[in-house]
Amino acid sequence: MSAFSPAIYLQDVSFSWQHHLVLDACSLEVPKGEFWMLLGTNGSGKSTLLKLLGGLLKPQAGVIQTGQPLGFVFQNPDHQLVMPTVGADVAFGLVAENLSQTQVRQRVEEALAAVNLLSLIRRPIYALSGGQKQRLAIAGAIARHAQVLLLDEPTALLDPDSQLELVAQVRRLVKQRGITALWVTHRLEELDYSDGAFLLDNGNVVDQGDPQRLQQQLKTLRS
Ligand SMILES: Nc1ncnc2c1ncn2[C@@H]1O[C@H](COP(=O)(O)OP(=O)(O)O)[C@@H](O)[C@H]1O
Ligand SMILES: [Mg+2]
Repeated sequence: MSAFSPAIYLQDVSFSWQHHLVLDACSLEVPKGEFWMLLGTNGSGKSTLLKLLGGLLKPQAGVIQTGQPLGFVFQNPDHQLVMPTVGADVAFGLVAENLSQTQVRQRVEEALAAVNLLSLIRRPIYALSGGQKQRLAIAGAIARHAQVLLLDEPTALLDPDSQLELVAQVRRLVKQRGITALWVTHRLEELDYSDGAFLLDNGNVVDQGDPQRLQQQLKTLRS
């Protein structure tokens, strides 16, 4: 991709589960260095769209391009943390890169520092809070030098304080590092931290743009 192309690009993408059409010639673009959110009712296809962007599913039609490497953060961090301790988990994600031990240590320490977890480098995973586990999953992506972060309802299992702390942290990372992020949520207060939002309905993006406007609109619909 050229320096001017969007970091996340989806054009006329269609996807069906068996005979159920979930995405119907759906398109969206996120400019490089921006933090966008994806909204939509339950079952509207948000997770399917993220899995297509992450290459976990193949579209039946359309074009998908994303910056690389790409990091994925799931709703439940217990599904993606695999090693017994914080430092080992981040290092494990670097195995494929054939780095020296010194390089691995530098990458792990830098990534943990970026999410304020460096002091917990030796802590067992089971002793972390939900919010710390999500920050650890993000550190894994930072250590691999991810250019794009896809986050599927990462705050769904968090208490309100860690929820807002996590969204603020991701915004800081995006702005400090030029990362591009797409964040799925149904919590309207998180929109305050985004640069823009997409509303998915009936297989398509039916509205997009200013997060405050979308927030107002959805609040009215829900009240
Ligand atoms: N593995 C699957 N097999 C069959 N149908 C699925 C599968 N995953 C999701 N679906 C269906 O696809 C639609 C969109 O699901 P999903 O992308 O999970 O929506 P959302 O994340 O917006 O709640 C739903 O109707 C859901 O039942
Ligand atoms: Mg989902």
